Amino acid sequence: MSTDHHAGLEDIEVLESAICEIRQDLLSFRGYKVTDLASASTFEEVAYLLWNDALPSAKELEEFQQALKAEYALPREIVEHINHVPREAHPMAVLRTLISSLGLYDSEALDNSPPAVRRKSVRLLAKIPQIVAAIARHRQAKANVEANPDLSIAANFLRCLYGRLPDNETARLLETTMILYAEHELNASTFAARTTAATQADTYSCIVSAISTLQGNLHGGANQRAVEMLLTIGKPQNVSDYLDEKLRKKEIIMGFGHRVYKQGDPRVPVLRALCKGLADKNKETTVFETATELEKEMLARKKLHANVDYYSGLAFYLMGMSADIFTCLFAMARSAGLLAHISEQYAQNKLIRPRAVYTGKKNQKYVAIDKR
Ligand SMILES: CC(C)(COP(=O)(O)OP(=O)(O)OC[C@H]1O[C@@H](n2cnc3c(N)ncnc32)[C@H](O)[C@@H]1OP(=O)(O)O)[C@@H](O)C(=O)NCCC(=O)NCCS
Repeated sequence: MSTDHHAGLEDIEVLESAICEIRQDLLSFRGYKVTDLASASTFEEVAYLLWNDALPSAKELEEFQQALKAEYALPREIVEHINHVPREAHPMAVLRTLISSLGLYDSEALDNSPPAVRRKSVRLLAKIPQIVAAIARHRQAKANVEANPDLSIAANFLRCLYGRLPDNETARLLETTMILYAEHELNASTFAARTTAATQADTYSCIVSAISTLQGNLHGGANQRAVEMLLTIGKPQNVSDYLDEKLRKKEIIMGFGHRVYKQGDPRVPVLRALCKGLADKNKETTVFETATELEKEMLARKKLHANVDYYSGLAFYLMGMSADIFTCLFAMARSAGLLAHISEQYAQNKLIRPRAVYTGKKNQKYVAIDKR
């Protein structure tokens, strides 16, 4: 087989983007370090930054927040749709379907002009958390909770998920994970969104492509799988035997390794510290100790570092959320970055159409069906 191609497009730079820079272990959004944003900024401010290439003034941020809050509420048809999906369907499959449906109720869905794309971006960023909360509640046979436009996206999401106002600390912890997840250059789902945008498809279709791609276990699906694995392992003393078995069978350990970060993911230290705080507070230290033990063993045995999904999954678990919605939480945070990339792609478009190295049969002679 020819090796004159780039399997998995590894290390290939396919387009120019001014949104996110990854340099060794440094990650920045529009020139601002993600760790600074995670400690000092809000999710809304980060979304504004990603979409506008500048931090907002107080007035601009206020106007942006008001525009988002005005779009929290879901169309009645979408709430009804959620109530009719099978409860056992995976939340990411439901989210993918619902975002596609949402486009049906947007009269601007097919308008790709910059002002219309901006209005749709506000609608999507505001409504996706509502949809995720409604999906999670429907799975537990609980009624949808209507949005509270006095709250931030993170606080409103938690209120709609649990049916009660969250404390400020929990809302801030969720917001921190959302900032860390908000954007990450040309990862697989962003590439899928940009490939879709590059055909001049509409914004909803781009987000559906991204959500479909994010769902896979090697991408966003890893946060759910990583926590399920930690719960299966149970305690730090079981890590060694668990790894012996998995590595002997050459199985992938979820939440480890990364296509870009080979020396560690810069989001991990922030998330690990956040998980430690939550574990101590909840007196759930066993799962945290199991996680750090596995991290130590994977580094020692395989030279593989934990990635963002490992500790964000654990953070969501320690916040009391059920594992099957973790990837939806990733999606609702990443929609900020996806929408920035979709706009950028429309503005500097070039159809994305690579080539394949052909390895199939050649010069076949067609034989009529009765002669085969
Ligand atoms: C993220 C991931 C897909 C990156 O893949 P990649 O850049 O193509 O790297 P490779 O799969 O070529 O990995 C290099 C080697 O490390 C091994 N490896 C990578 N991640 C591993 C993991 N999580 N568990 C066990 N082995 C792993 C590979 O098997 C490969 O070994 P080999 O050279 O003996 O064949 C991969 O690390 C993975 O599957 N991780 C688990 C899923 C996950 O956490 N995804 C979220 C990413 S943020």
